[in-house]
Amino acid sequence: MASVSVDEAMRRAIELAARGLGTTSPNPVVGCVLLDADGEVVGEGFHAYAGGPHAEIVALAQAGQRAKGGTAVVTLEPCDHTGRTGPCSTALVQAGVARVVIAVPDPNPVATGGAATLRAAGVRVDLGVRASEAESGNVAWLTAMRRGWPYVIWKYAATLDGRSAAADGTSMWITSEAARMDVHALRATVDAVVVGVGTVLADDPRLTVRNLRDGSLAIQQPLRVVVDSAGRTPLDAQVRDGAARTWIATAAEVGAGPDGGVDLFALLAALHGRGVRAVLLEGGPRLAGAFLAAGLVDRVVGYLAPRLLGAGPAALVDAGVTTITDAIDLEITDVTQVGPDLRITALPRKREG
Ligand SMILES: NC(=O)c1ccc[n+]([C@@H]2O[C@H](COP(=O)([O-])OP(=O)(O)OC[C@H]3O[C@@H](n4cnc5c(N)ncnc54)[C@H](OP(=O)(O)O)[C@@H]3O)[C@@H](O)[C@H]2O)c1
Repeated sequence: MASVSVDEAMRRAIELAARGLGTTSPNPVVGCVLLDADGEVVGEGFHAYAGGPHAEIVALAQAGQRAKGGTAVVTLEPCDHTGRTGPCSTALVQAGVARVVIAVPDPNPVATGGAATLRAAGVRVDLGVRASEAESGNVAWLTAMRRGWPYVIWKYAATLDGRSAAADGTSMWITSEAARMDVHALRATVDAVVVGVGTVLADDPRLTVRNLRDGSLAIQQPLRVVVDSAGRTPLDAQVRDGAARTWIATAAEVGAGPDGGVDLFALLAALHGRGVRAVLLEGGPRLAGAFLAAGLVDRVVGYLAPRLLGAGPAALVDAGVTTITDAIDLEITDVTQVGPDLRITALPRKREG
């Protein structure tokens, strides 16, 4: 097999890491490619689930003796602590790896230190290869670890004139089946799906990942969270169907915000405590408005259907904006056509002060 460059190996490691999205929390997604002394790929691995082997260990097992004198190319700094598995830094040293190339340092105070351990053992360590690409592949986990609460993606569906339902309240289905399947794929990458009780009362959604071709459930379902200050979620609501874990987050349990609703900061802190790193906020308009007003949304994913309603509720209610200078400005990072609909991904711009 031909030798590959470290840069090319890192591109591959980032691809491998993405396979773990949605199943590794509270751990990060990590990919690793092992090159032998001649630069040939002798091992590949990714972290698939919490408690399972780390990417480096999978790749080392494949490489066996051929790891000696080789290079480990890894998307995140190898861990330096013993959790459910042993430290990857030590495993790399013991395997005789001569060089470790890392994209992003580990911000987790518990696990960091792998680079220093490797250097102390005489291993050459290089940091920063394809760092921004690796960072965006792991953005939810890295953001959550750095600041202590989960990364929040607000997803909504609307008509081209911004309506989330018709005037009579009917809303199923605004977007196409292709867009809805796309949402299932998005759900599969997060740890929790959050809605307000208004959505449960209006639509009775299941909120499970059903993206498999035969309609069956994905193996690992995100936690379903209903933000429900007074506990109005009906006992026979589909979110209580046992197909996935569900948390009815009431004000009594989480704490109340100034307006009597569930305190959203406390909610996110509690989710972080439960190991949730990535949240998909699926509405409705009122809860989304409260999250946006509090500055708690990290990414917006809007599905826009080529339809017009001219009346009916807006996709967003009361986001704390009354005048145009207060508008929540976004930077569009992607526009993709999904079936007949458009999927627009955007990041809220940081506000001054
Ligand atoms: N197009 C879309 O993407 C989309 C997505 C979802 C829903 N929808 C539509 O949205 C409609 C429901 O809208 P909605 O605005 O009533 O639903 P919602 O945003 O899901 O729920 C709002 C409710 O959440 C509860 N809540 C608890 N704490 C809160 C807080 N801190 N901030 C805000 N809300 C809090 C409040 O009820 P309590 O005071 O009782 O706790 C509030 O009335 C339905 O017609 C549904 O079809 C559309």
